[in-house]
Amino acid sequence: MKKIRAAITGVGAFLPEYRLTNEELSTMVDTSDEWIMQRIGIKERRILKEPGKATSDMGAAAVQQLLDKKGILPDEIDLLLCATITPDLPFPATANIICHKVGIKRGWSFDVNAACSGFIYSLATAAQFIESGKYKKVIVVGADMMSSIINYKDRNTSPLFGDAGTAVLLEPTTEEIGLIDYIHHVNGLGRHHLHMKAGGSLRPATLETVQNEEHFVYQEGQAVFKHAVSGMADVTKEIMEKHGLKADDINWLVPHQANLRIIDATARRVGLDINKVMVNIEKFGNTTAATIPLCLYDYEKQLRKNDNIILTAFGAGFTWGSIFLKWAYDGDKI
Ligand code: UT7
Repeated sequence: MKKIRAAITGVGAFLPEYRLTNEELSTMVDTSDEWIMQRIGIKERRILKEPGKATSDMGAAAVQQLLDKKGILPDEIDLLLCATITPDLPFPATANIICHKVGIKRGWSFDVNAACSGFIYSLATAAQFIESGKYKKVIVVGADMMSSIINYKDRNTSPLFGDAGTAVLLEPTTEEIGLIDYIHHVNGLGRHHLHMKAGGSLRPATLETVQNEEHFVYQEGQAVFKHAVSGMADVTKEIMEKHGLKADDINWLVPHQANLRIIDATARRVGLDINKVMVNIEKFGNTTAATIPLCLYDYEKQLRKNDNIILTAFGAGFTWGSIFLKWAYDGDKI
């Protein structure tokens, strides 16, 4: 019997309308367009401003777009995973809320918390349910409302992040396409460099934690930068070597979008021309679990069936990894 593989057969995305430009940010913190473009490479980021709206609304909009695009009914979905670190509520899972909002009642769902690696961790997890033959339609959502945990008085973190919701559909195939392999890693020591100090069981929210502004992203930028470059470059080389892939064999590298300098350095170390690297950080910033599917969404029309694609991400945890996949459809024919 032929091996069943899990193939991405559609991509959806939702972007809030509000654009927080470097110019506006410069009126909020001591920074400038010049510094942000030189050191990070972001021009603007989208911010979800509507009162009462949260991560699940962006995730649900992306899922709805995906269902419409594919002509699929909610009850055909077997399982939905939501990668996020900005859930609507500490519990229940945002995945459950998304299912309610789009009408998924027959399947089941849960959240995955792996920060910027959330999408690749979730994709590898979701693929298992397809490859086992158990499920036919699994959705992976990558959605984060980073603006809800960013301190807009902190110039070290406020230029970096944006909000977005994305969704991909995984379906089975017996062709030599879809997810071929993944290599994922974790190093919990990295948590000291990037985390939120309060609001969890270690330091539940109190008046004091709020006054100390401990419910925002805390990051030691340089330490994360160094680990991100070596982590993404090494794991990408590892998966390429495992599959005998040379730089020329790769059609697209899809790196997590945290900093243009990290993306450039990763591509250089892997020996890939920047023209083969998906980059949209300038428009959206770091949308955490959404960056990789947002790239796939942005570049979808350029993708061809059988394209060799490597996804790679690095994030809080530390978590990092790479996925090697062969694209399943011509992006301009959908
Ligand atoms: O997705 C995974 C999570 N995150 C990341 O991957 C992010 C990784 N880190 C980074 O992208 C970079 O480290 C940052 C963009 C966060 C910072 O860039 P950097 O080149 O590492 O700058 P730095 O922190 O070493 O600061 C250099 C200077 C400092 O001034 P002095 O001490 O040299 O006078 C900072 O105070 O730049 C200053 N600075 C700023 N200046 C203007 C820091 N942030 C800003 C700012 N505007 N926004």
